[in-house]
Amino acid sequence: MAWYRDNCRQLPWRSDISVYRVWVSEVMLQQTQVKTVIPYYIRFMETWPDLKDLAATGLETVLKTWEGLGYYARARNLHKAAGIVVRDMGGIIPDDYKGFKNLPGVGDYIASAVLSITGSKPHAVVDGNVKRVLARLLCVDAPVNHSAAHKAYKAIAEKLLYEKDPGTYNQAVMELGALVCTPKRPDCGPCPLAGECCAYEKQVTDIFPRRIKK
Ligand code: ADE
Repeated sequence: MAWYRDNCRQLPWRSDISVYRVWVSEVMLQQTQVKTVIPYYIRFMETWPDLKDLAATGLETVLKTWEGLGYYARARNLHKAAGIVVRDMGGIIPDDYKGFKNLPGVGDYIASAVLSITGSKPHAVVDGNVKRVLARLLCVDAPVNHSAAHKAYKAIAEKLLYEKDPGTYNQAVMELGALVCTPKRPDCGPCPLAGECCAYEKQVTDIFPRRIKK
């Protein structure tokens, strides 16, 4: 987390933090790279600065703004969820895991990311970056591209979670995966975890994370 404090990118969703802003960012980031998301995110927030604005807009307009991001189910679900929150929940986004995860398009990844970052709720995020960091750190053999192995990574992530500041912890692991512990040629020199990394010690960062051929 000290590394994250000193090295994290200034990204638009990391300022003016709110549940709505972080939610939209994580929906976009779940299947799209940071670099691509940035301009879409800025435009989205300029157009719909809060959830009520989004709920008051027709779906077609939202889909139009989403053009180029792909995976349109994300936009449909987000728009539908905004409607539900405004109509049925008095405009208040649930801040508990179960309630939030019940909304359309909100799975464990989105719920854990949003609630840890905005509400310090103790849920560990597991995405591709996180799996790669954990696989190398602990030489985890479970293949990262197999759905059955997801549980194994989730369990490890929950065990390592820093409960006093889960949001910073989660973002730090994701950021480390994005900037240092990269898929190819990880930059182990400046890595804050090099001293305790199994794959680094054994010089096998190239064979972790493991994948199965499909
Ligand atoms: N990728 C998706 N969400 C992220 C976040 N909150 N921080 C860093 N990388 C991410």
